[in-house]
Formats: sequence, structure tokens, C-alpha cells
Amino acid sequence: MRYGHFDDERKEYVITTPKTPYPWINYLGSERFFGLISHQAGGYCFYRDARLRRILRFRYNNVPADSGGRYFYVRETDGDVWCPSYMPVKSELESFECRHGLGYTRITGKRRGLSVELLAFVPDGVDAEVHQVTLKNESDKPREVTLFSLLEFCLWNAHDDQTNFQRNLSTAEVEIDGSTIYHKHEYRERRNHYAFYTVNEKVAGFDSDRESFLGLYNGFHEPDVVKAGKSRNSVASGWSPIASHSLEVKLAPGESKTLVFLLGYIENPKEEKWEKPGVINKKRAKELIAAFSTPAQVQAAFQKLQARWSGLLSSYKLTSGDEKLNRMVNVWNPYQCMVTFNMSRSASYFESGIGRGMGFRDSNQDLLGFVHLVPERARERIIDIASTQFPDGSAYHQYQPLTKRGNNDVGSGFNDDPLWLILGTAAYIKETGDFGILDEEVPFDNDEKNKASLFEHLKRSFYHVMENLGPHGLPLIGRADWNDCLNLNCFSETPDEPYQTTGNRVGRTAESIFIAGMFVHIGPEYATLAERRGLADEAKKARELVKKMSDTVLEHGWDGDWYLRAYDFFGKKVGSKECEDGQIFIEPQGYCSMAGIGLESGHVKKALDSVKARLDTKYGIVLQQPAYKEYHLELGEISSYPPGYKENAGIFCHNNPWVIIAETLLGRGDQAFDYYKKIAPAYLEDISDVHRTEPYVYSQMIAGRDAVRHGEAKNSWLTGTAAWNFVAVSQHLLGVKPEWDGLSVRPCIGKDIADFTIERRCRGATYKIRVKNQGRGGKVSLKVNGKPVPGHLVPYAPAGSTVDVECEA
Ligand code: GLC
Ligand code: GLC
Repeated sequence: MRYGHFDDERKEYVITTPKTPYPWINYLGSERFFGLISHQAGGYCFYRDARLRRILRFRYNNVPADSGGRYFYVRETDGDVWCPSYMPVKSELESFECRHGLGYTRITGKRRGLSVELLAFVPDGVDAEVHQVTLKNESDKPREVTLFSLLEFCLWNAHDDQTNFQRNLSTAEVEIDGSTIYHKHEYRERRNHYAFYTVNEKVAGFDSDRESFLGLYNGFHEPDVVKAGKSRNSVASGWSPIASHSLEVKLAPGESKTLVFLLGYIENPKEEKWEKPGVINKKRAKELIAAFSTPAQVQAAFQKLQARWSGLLSSYKLTSGDEKLNRMVNVWNPYQCMVTFNMSRSASYFESGIGRGMGFRDSNQDLLGFVHLVPERARERIIDIASTQFPDGSAYHQYQPLTKRGNNDVGSGFNDDPLWLILGTAAYIKETGDFGILDEEVPFDNDEKNKASLFEHLKRSFYHVMENLGPHGLPLIGRADWNDCLNLNCFSETPDEPYQTTGNRVGRTAESIFIAGMFVHIGPEYATLAERRGLADEAKKARELVKKMSDTVLEHGWDGDWYLRAYDFFGKKVGSKECEDGQIFIEPQGYCSMAGIGLESGHVKKALDSVKARLDTKYGIVLQQPAYKEYHLELGEISSYPPGYKENAGIFCHNNPWVIIAETLLGRGDQAFDYYKKIAPAYLEDISDVHRTEPYVYSQMIAGRDAVRHGEAKNSWLTGTAAWNFVAVSQHLLGVKPEWDGLSVRPCIGKDIADFTIERRCRGATYKIRVKNQGRGGKVSLKVNGKPVPGHLVPYAPAGSTVDVECEA
């Protein structure tokens, strides 16, 4: 069942009912000011950091779901009250439509012939959300309504806001100036920032105190003020500050009216905080308000936003006969990659913006799907991430976006972390050719007194693995590797402690075959970089170490038909036939296969056949089998989940693409594409009632076959799934991949997709690639500008040039 459709022309997903199976959201903003907005206008926004600078309040886990957002109430003269977004009033609408586009959302509701449209977006380079509201009288009678706006402010620190009430309920302050409500909580003390909400017309009234507006015992669906049809002009003092305007709107039949609301964030220099004692300096706010005071200004900013997105997306353009594939590759997958790059794992409808900051591992992987869009921002991100690395090569697992400092609560000790930095950096250099980044002086642990070149950071990443080998010569796992829930040194028996950061048996026996696979896959990138810096001996040494690790995996990490997952604290196998549950895991099959460990000797084929036989389901590949039936002290959180959910045999979409990529290595394009289609959201649109999350973005997890609700997804948006699937589809299935010295063109997508074309921008040149696809499994013949070239590499052309590539595949 569907709840809407794709509008490919406008690059929008169009939701046609407010009653989707879960709130379907979108993101606004691209650099500093970000908003989450659902199809029912729910959600919140923040400046740079969802925890420390939250602007709107949102209650997670609330009932009803998704309440709190940017609300507009329409009150008719006969007392009828409704919202174009349906929520929170839930008056039935004649029509409803929500268009989620790239960086904007347009919600239109119509009742009794009056249509009200909300267009919400964050203009480029501006720290504000525009809410443009257009009322249109489509009936044949004159209409007179009162329009009320409403949003509720968060007291900046989202964690304190939901916990520290003994303080919070006394601290809120506002100022009212004409149609603008200023939210200046804590501005009197250490904060130099405030927010405001304004509208470009003289208001009939306003409210800034929640209780005055709603009534103490009412919810958002029944505000006293709206019922009465008249604002109370309340001025908040303590308690809960809100911003609400009321405007009288009269419309002749056919007439329409557009109002521009602006929710802005302002920072003042310390010495310019005040206009006079107790009165905030509004100069910057007024400039911002003036810049968005007419629909024409809004329109210009909106067009700029759309033009930027068209420009971004033109760096990889597919034309094929499969419209679902086209929309994933051309629009929605790169769009999600941009969002994951910006948010890491901090703020979604499943991540509260409080618990997690930027992940070292996550952000490096996010880069892989984002780097072709805005390489300069990827560069900056690499430096930020590397700055949280420790001198011994290990790394903070997370850091806070506002401060860019490592997060001490989680600390370090996830032994896969360092290697991802090499992968992210290599992807950046391949995309841009910017080897110079390796010479950047980057601090360790943000200590300016202890700096080294980025290359030195990569070197320490590489050797961190080497210096932490276990009894079989395999990498020690530490607190966990990619699988946060495989906690082999944890042994947690106490309910209230975190699994990952509780190490009551820190030992040097638990080893990860997954990290070994990573080392073999990523190590050669380090070796190449060393070589290109003239360090031939270092490169040789690195290659030998990689080779040795590869041999070690075959010797101690092979279980007969697949790669083992790990050795536990006691040296017992994890992910082996010998185990009762958890006999085979997807991660080492994907990663060791991608690394080509035992490719010639047939190990890769065997491992992937085992994946197909044991882990594949109708809805995707599950993480492991059989699911753990009970809690295992020696394995940790993985066994804490009920069978079929999350890491305990859920379909963890993040690692499905590793198997897809590995299948293309074997030339099995049909199988690879089949796996791709099972989890790609556009292909799941028809089963939205089962899948439940947005059909335009990936979710982290789909419940596995052991679960009660097999096929049901959770954790949409913020997941490494986005980046890895983009890598899988763009670089391996469709086969266009930046390498050190040229663009590799080697499609392997099976026979389902007939001929297709790809336009790829790279290093300033444009490659027009026409593929005649007969499903030759990665075997290609190329002509570049009409001349046959051997192999699959198209040498990089000078910036500004256009290269014509014909490919038989
Ligand atoms: C979550 C984390 C990611 C981890 C994965 C598997 O998605 O963000 O870092 O690798 O879970 O546990
Ligand atoms: C839980 C989740 C895992 C996530 C981790 C992050 O363990 O199962 O997916 O990566 O939390 O802290």
C-alpha cells in the first residue's frame, strides 16, 4: 500500500494523506541552521548542535506521536478550527498534500474551499527558517478567518530542557517588539544568542506564554486562545515560552494572501549584547527580518536553494529504463547522504539529538557518499575528525559538533575506528586529487601543542591495528568494532550500565575478523599513499603486513564455508558452525569478500553462497543466524535484543551493500542488483504499510525473519546505509568509481537494466558515459573519445573538458 508518490520532475515525494504509518519527515538547512519537519509540520530546529543549541522544543516518545512543530490554526467566524497540516487539531480536510523536496517542505490542506499552504525552508547561508503561508479562497463566498501561528521554544540545552525543571521553569524571558517575539532565555548571563519569530504584517495580537495560549490542561489541539478567537497578548516570564501571532485575513472568492513568518537565530558579539540595560540588541535580527519581509524575497531565496541542489545533483546523473533506480541514484540517495553527513547520528525521529554527537566511524563512512557533492566540506570534516584522534592512533568514538571536542562519556576503544579515517581520506583524495591534504598539520586530541601531518595520523591508524593483535595475530576488538553490540570484553550483569563502555574484563584475547577484513581492504590505500609520498619502503612494509593479515584470516578466520566473526574473551569462536546461535555473521562475509581475501582460492564465492543460503530473506540480508535466543554475558548487547531486531538478526541495511559490492567482485551482477532492490526504499513504496518508514530514504534496520514484524523498518535517515548504498550502486553496480589516476568504468548490474547513460563530474571535467549492457559481469570494453582503451580506467581529463566514454559491459 502507498501513501503518496514520487514526483520525479520536481524531485519531491508527495504524501497525499496525513495518516502515514509513521511520521514521514524531511530536513531543512544545509550548513548551520537545521530543521526536522514531518508531513504534519511537526519537528524542531537547532543551530549547529541538536543538543546544545535547540531552538524549538519537541517531545520524543510523546502521545500522540509527532506533536510540537510549526503550527498554523485557522479559525473561521463560526468557530470552526482546523490546521492545514491536519495535526494537531485533526479536523478532517477536503484535501491534504505534503511535498517533501530537497531542503524544503510544502504542506497544503484545504477545508470548506479554503486552501492554506505552508512552505518551510532554510535559505542558503541564513540562520533562519522561512514559513511562508498562503491562504487561498477557492470557494464562491467571501471568507474571514483568524490565522494563529504557534511554536514552542526550547530552553537551548535540549537535555536540561527535558530534565532540569526546578531551574527551567523560572528562567524564560521574552521581549515583544511589534510583530516580533524574541526568545532570550539566559541571554542575561552567559549566552550571546537569542531567537525570534516574526511575521511580515501587523498582528491582531500575540502570545508568548504557553499556559495563557493553551490553557493549563489543554493540548496543542485545543488552545483556549484559538477557541476564543483572540490572542491574549501574554508576555512569558518563566514557565514555557512560545511564539504565537494572530492575524485577521479577509478573502474575496478567488483571492489569496501570502504571509511570511520567519524564525531566526542571532548571535551578538559580547560587547554588543545590549541596546540598553535589559533590552537585547536587535540590530542583526532586524536586518535579517528586512531580508525576508516580502514573498518576492522568499521566492528568490527559494530559487537559489533549488538551483544549488540541481547543481549538486548534476555531479552524478543516471538515465536508465528503471525509474526507481533513477530516482534513488539521482535524487534520494545522494540527498540522504547529505543529511547523514550533516547530522551524523545526532537528530532524527529516532535519534533525540541528545544522546549522540558526530561518530568517528560514522562520519568517515558518511563521507563516502557525500564527497562528490561538496568536496571542500568533506575536507574540513576529515580534519575535524582527525583532530579527535589520540597520539597512539586510537580515537574518540564521538565528538560534539559545536565544540568539535571528543566526547568523554563514550571515550575510545572501538578498534575499528582508526581505519575508517584512512578510507574516508582516500575517498576524498581520489575524488579531488588533493594529495595536499596529507600535509595538513592536525592536532591529536585537539591539543594544538601536539600536531602532526594528516599522513602521520593515517600511519598511526594503520599501526594501531598492528600494535593491537591478539593470540591468533588477528586484531583485538576492544569495546566493539563496527557492530557496536558485539561487546566481547564487557560482561555486563547490571541493568543500568551501558554495554559498550563497561569493560570489567578488559583482556587481550577477543579478536575481530571483521577488523582484519577492514585492514586488508583499507591497508592498501595507506600503502599507496605512502608510495606517492616517496616512501617506498614504508609502502612495501605496509603491503607485507596486509598480505600477512590476509593469510592469517584464511588460517584462523575461516570456518569451512564462511569467515568467522570473532574470537571471544575465552578464545572461543563467534560466528562458527560450532556455535549454537550466531553461527554466521554478515559483516566478515561482506568485508573480507570486498577485501578479496581468498578470492582466487574460492573462499569469497563460498562465503557469499553461504550468505545467500543462510542469511538472505525476502526483505534483505539479516545480520546473523540463528538469532540469539537468550542473553549471553560474553557477547553483550547483541544478545539483548529480541530475535530479529537490530543487531540480533535484524536486516541491518548498512552492511547489505558490502555483500552487494562483493557480489560484483565475483561478477554476479544479477544477484547484486537483486540484493540492492530488496532494501532500496523506492522499491518498497508499494509495501509502505509493512515497511512503515519513508519510502524515499533508507532505514538503519528492517526487522528480520525471526521477528514478529518481519519487514518493518525503524531508524530512518541517519545511517551509514545511505553512504554505503550510494557507493554500491554508483561505483559497483553502475560501476563508475574515482580511482587514483582515473575514473574506473566497470558496470556489473546484471541483465535487468538495459542500456543506460551516466554523466559524472569529477575533478572539474565531465564524463559522458554510454553503457551498452549485456550483463557481462564486470568485463568491459571501453572507448574514450572514440578510441579504444585497454582495461577499465578512463584517465582523468583537465578541468573544464568533456570526455565521451562508450562502454560495452
Ligand atoms: C549504528 C551505529 C554504527 C554502528 C552500527 C552497528 O548504526 O551508528 O556506528 O556501526 O549501529 O552497530
Ligand atoms: C545500540 C544500537 C546500535 C548503536 C548503538 C550506539 O547499541 O543497537 O545500533 O550503534 O546503540 O550507541
